[in-house]
Amino acid sequence: MAVTIKTLEEVEKMRVAGHLAADVLRMIRPHVLPGVTTGELDRICHDYIVNVQGAIPAPLNYHGFPKSICTSVNHQVCHGIPGDRVLKKGDIVNIDITVIKDGYHGDTSKMFFVGEPSIQARRVTQVSHECMCKGIEMVRAGVRLGDIGHAIQVHAEKNHCSVVREYCGHGIGRQFHEDPQVLHFGNPGTGMELAAGMTITIEPMINAGRREIRMLPDNWTVVTRDHSLSAQWEHTILVTETGHEVLTVLPGDSL
Ligand code: MF3
Ligand code: CO
Ligand code: CO
Repeated sequence: MAVTIKTLEEVEKMRVAGHLAADVLRMIRPHVLPGVTTGELDRICHDYIVNVQGAIPAPLNYHGFPKSICTSVNHQVCHGIPGDRVLKKGDIVNIDITVIKDGYHGDTSKMFFVGEPSIQARRVTQVSHECMCKGIEMVRAGVRLGDIGHAIQVHAEKNHCSVVREYCGHGIGRQFHEDPQVLHFGNPGTGMELAAGMTITIEPMINAGRREIRMLPDNWTVVTRDHSLSAQWEHTILVTETGHEVLTVLPGDSL
């Protein structure tokens, strides 16, 4: 699929969808406590998106995904399916929200600590957040995707973490996953040049150990092969002539 350049009207709709996705993460935070199941978190988010926001949870039935959000715990890298798993003190969990409003998608995820995290959990969570921020900082018209991927990879590896290669950020708009693919590793001066009006996600998956992954038998949940902890943060970003606008951050909030 070709890269799409959004009109001003489309950008406004992306902004609305982005803010709704961010609002779901804000809403769910107080529910992420020891004893809650990931299935309960899914149900709360689903009901909020549908009944309060009047929006659609994009993951539900997307290529057969059975739930409305993704919940990836500890060594789960991404696409964890909510279910009967009970969160316990010391767990770290990525909650990934994608909503569709007025035909446009907003996609964002955050890490949550359940009780007090281990030093290692805190570290990989912080490094993955810094990686995302370093990628976002570089976004403006004219920058090349390889420059962004390189900045992310260098930061992860400098901190003795690794970058998952098999999954990446993406263009986003009317479709959940549009071109281009936004790799979180790469070489400076390579790849597509970004242009104003593109909307993309940056969502590095960073492992505390080796970068290799494995797929669980449910055919969705991705885990680290060495069972090391993994962390991910994601925002949807508009490319502008002079820089960028993060569409999935609420006014006054930090990334
Ligand atoms: N939200 C994920 C992303 O950031 C995609 C989830 S696809 C699903 O691209 F089917 F697992 F929901
Ligand atoms: Co995404
Ligand atoms: Co996502």
